[in-house]
Amino acid sequence: MIRLLKIKPFSRLMLASAAFVLLLGSVIFVRGAAANDDSADYPAASLSAPTDQTALIARGKYLVAAADCAPCHTGPNHAPFTGGLVMNTPFGGLASPNITADPTTGIGNWTDKQFYDAIHYGIAPGHDWLVFPRFLYPAMPYTSYTKLSYADVMAIKAYLDSLAPVQVAPTPSSMMFPFNQRPVLLGWRMLFFHAGPMHMNPAWNDQMKNGAYLTEALGHCQECHTPRNFLSAMIPSKAFAGAPIDAFYAPNISSDKTQGVGGWSSADLVAYLHDEGNLVKGSPYASMGEMTHHSTSQIPVSDDQDIALYLQTATAPQQVTPPPAAADATASIARGAKLYASTCAACHGAQGAGMGPQMVPNLAGNDSVTAAYPDNIIGATLAGLDPWTAIPMPSFAAQLSDQDIADIANYVRTSWGNTGVPNATPDMVAALRKRAGVAEKTN
Ligand code: HEC
Ligand code: HEC
Ligand code: HEC
Repeated sequence: MIRLLKIKPFSRLMLASAAFVLLLGSVIFVRGAAANDDSADYPAASLSAPTDQTALIARGKYLVAAADCAPCHTGPNHAPFTGGLVMNTPFGGLASPNITADPTTGIGNWTDKQFYDAIHYGIAPGHDWLVFPRFLYPAMPYTSYTKLSYADVMAIKAYLDSLAPVQVAPTPSSMMFPFNQRPVLLGWRMLFFHAGPMHMNPAWNDQMKNGAYLTEALGHCQECHTPRNFLSAMIPSKAFAGAPIDAFYAPNISSDKTQGVGGWSSADLVAYLHDEGNLVKGSPYASMGEMTHHSTSQIPVSDDQDIALYLQTATAPQQVTPPPAAADATASIARGAKLYASTCAACHGAQGAGMGPQMVPNLAGNDSVTAAYPDNIIGATLAGLDPWTAIPMPSFAAQLSDQDIADIANYVRTSWGNTGVPNATPDMVAALRKRAGVAEKTN
């Protein structure tokens, strides 16, 4: 490190050029490799795009639903696909751009190749610091979309091109220095980004290949369900093991029989994805509610069956050690029982059975509340939730203290046959309040 600091400006320039040459080299290398992609790494339907324009656009519409492009590219008070959603990254706020075909504020002037480069390599047209390609931040999940076939990316473009172009002023981002400089992504890309398809097991049948493609490429399920390292890159050896997101926790959905979805009936998993939940496994909510509402409920049920098949049988089982029980767990659970009865039971039932399908979900037997970390009960109680279909869940942030919420979480995690660890603490609630942006009750 010390020697690096002593490098003269001239040699720093040499270093920068060397890095650039290395980058060019790697881009050429991966492009060369991509050209030789093994067709065995894609489901048959993804190998060639329909030649008929109507069929091509219909395929693109299906792919855009399966890839869930709309919610991220539609901010508050914005028309669909016109961007303006600000995502909170650890490095500041990042706004999504307009991806309608408007030639000035959207992508109407992009060539096929430029569009493919954005989805497959995370590189937009133009340059930064004169020489660097315009790297996209991985908040745009090209880390998963790179596994899409060329034919499918072209079908997506055909669909977006078929929509009315809309002109909108771009929403500004607030990334902090130096992360607001896109060339800093070079190192990240070299370390963590691997362009190209996933490697499918040649022994897989069509259903398994379709499920793998929907899960890994289109549905980008790992982007939320796989833990990340300190530089926000997904950790491949922990695929699907569960990870925090916003004020919630995307649970372990690996094939593990006790902690993952390996022990779910396939019918429950399909109902969760396609019918947006049931009274066995509860309802999808928070960002998963968005995902099922805009994506997995909009694709054929056979696709959700294939996702279930892949998750339950082909992913490596993952086990996570939960944080230990709170020091005063027994007393905390007893306090939580009283608070649950007065605050939650009217809707969720004294035995946690819920109130009816599509109304209020069960908390008994609901794996999202017994996951390794207690964030989901805390997050739901702090932030409130949009309706399953009928009524919303109110926020209790102003009514309950950090200790109250930890106590309720410990009660729910251990009652009615639930086998979660009673590990919620007031400190965890305080940290999640910051992430959810809600102040503690003040009396
Ligand atoms: C999880 C949120 C998310 C999803 C899902 C998502 N995007 Fe993006 N996308 C973004 C963000 C954020 C950016 C801006 C990245 C940046 O500025 O570096 C972006 C950038 C882009 C760009 C570059 C546009 C430009 O002007 O530079 C294109 C094209 C794009 N997305 C298309 C898509 C398509 C097509 C899909 C679905 C297949 C999709 N996105 C899904 C968040 C998302
Ligand atoms: C934008 C982030 C995000 C993406 C993308 C995402 N999930 Fe989730 N998922 C979550 C969160 C947060 C939860 C916890 C809330 C809940 O249970 O609804 C969750 C919960 C789940 C659960 C319930 C697990 C349990 O133990 O109860 C399943 C099953 C699931 N997701 C499957 C998927 C699949 C399959 C995909 C890809 C098609 C996917 N998720 C993509 C965020 C995400
Ligand atoms: C007014 C009725 C109501 C009350 C009171 C209520 N909830 Fe909820 N709760 C709901 C509804 C409706 C949902 C489904 C939200 C969705 O699917 O987006 C829900 C969902 C949840 C979830 C997510 C589980 C799942 O599968 O969707 C948790 C956790 C939760 N509630 C915990 C609590 C706790 C703890 C309390 C008491 C502090 C409480 N709720 C009080 C209506 C209520």
